[in-house]
Amino acid sequence: MKVKEVFKECQKRLKNCSIETYRSDCLFLISHLLGIHPSLLALKEEEEFFHLPELEKLIEKRCKERIPVQHLLGEWDCLGRTFKVFPRVLAPRGATEILIETTIGLIEEKFDHKKEIKGLEIGTGTGCISINLLLEFPNLQMVGVEIDPTAVENTIENAKSYGVLDRFKVIKGDIFTLCGEFKNSNQRFGFIVSNPPYIAEEDREKLPPEVLYENPVALFGGKFGTKFHEFYATHCKELLNPNGFMVLEFEPFQKEHLQKFFQSHGWKVEFVKDFAGKERVLVAYPI
Ligand SMILES: C[S@@+](CC[C@H](N)C(=O)[O-])C[C@H]1O[C@@H](n2cnc3c(N)ncnc32)[C@H](O)[C@@H]1O
Repeated sequence: MKVKEVFKECQKRLKNCSIETYRSDCLFLISHLLGIHPSLLALKEEEEFFHLPELEKLIEKRCKERIPVQHLLGEWDCLGRTFKVFPRVLAPRGATEILIETTIGLIEEKFDHKKEIKGLEIGTGTGCISINLLLEFPNLQMVGVEIDPTAVENTIENAKSYGVLDRFKVIKGDIFTLCGEFKNSNQRFGFIVSNPPYIAEEDREKLPPEVLYENPVALFGGKFGTKFHEFYATHCKELLNPNGFMVLEFEPFQKEHLQKFFQSHGWKVEFVKDFAGKERVLVAYPI
């Protein structure tokens, strides 16, 4: 069968299993098996496809187990860099690219680039945030805290393959206890960045099976999803150097609440919108 026929058939199969992203899923699956970037698939349309048994297995898993395509491939891109994605570790999402780009802009603006900069990331997952930052700034050192042991391994493996592990200290632990330990040992950072678990517990029932495939520890942030943000606002301020800042991802519906919460806990806040014009990133400065 030619690639273009396989692409058509794949879409038909995924559509029949009610997978809404059938077109992009097939694009990613087939180009992955061909070992090419998805943008080049159109150039291969007339070529013979020799990976039908492998594709069949992937289609079965996508349909029957609803495993997200990022996990079927075991890798995903974030800001043009590819990251390995270990089973059930949250794969990089679009909003997180805005979080990283915002942090890059702030580091450029606020720090002296001849001096060492130290940042803290809470909840590293695949490591896509810290690793992108470390690759942008050779004078940056990151500390990452991650509770899930598989995600810790995932972060370390990606950091190794991008050659930044010597500037990235990854700690397996719970920020709810480590924050106090950092404070007691006088650890201070120029900035804190986090894409914390922020789905509201009460939305659990509404989530598609693809999201529920991820480890729940990466998803849920308490009743309204703001448990982590509130903890950082209340307990992590002393971890920042004077003139430090915090950059956090959140759901648009949480904006008003977070704005009030941060302001009432002594922070100045700004918001950054995504391409759809929705606020997704909060930047907070201690006042
Ligand atoms: C939404 S994911 C973000 C992963 C990655 N930084 C990204 O943006 O793709 C949240 C991460 O926080 C980790 N996490 C959850 N609770 C934590 C805690 N109490 N302390 C440290 N990490 C935690 C999860 O295991 C997960 O990897």
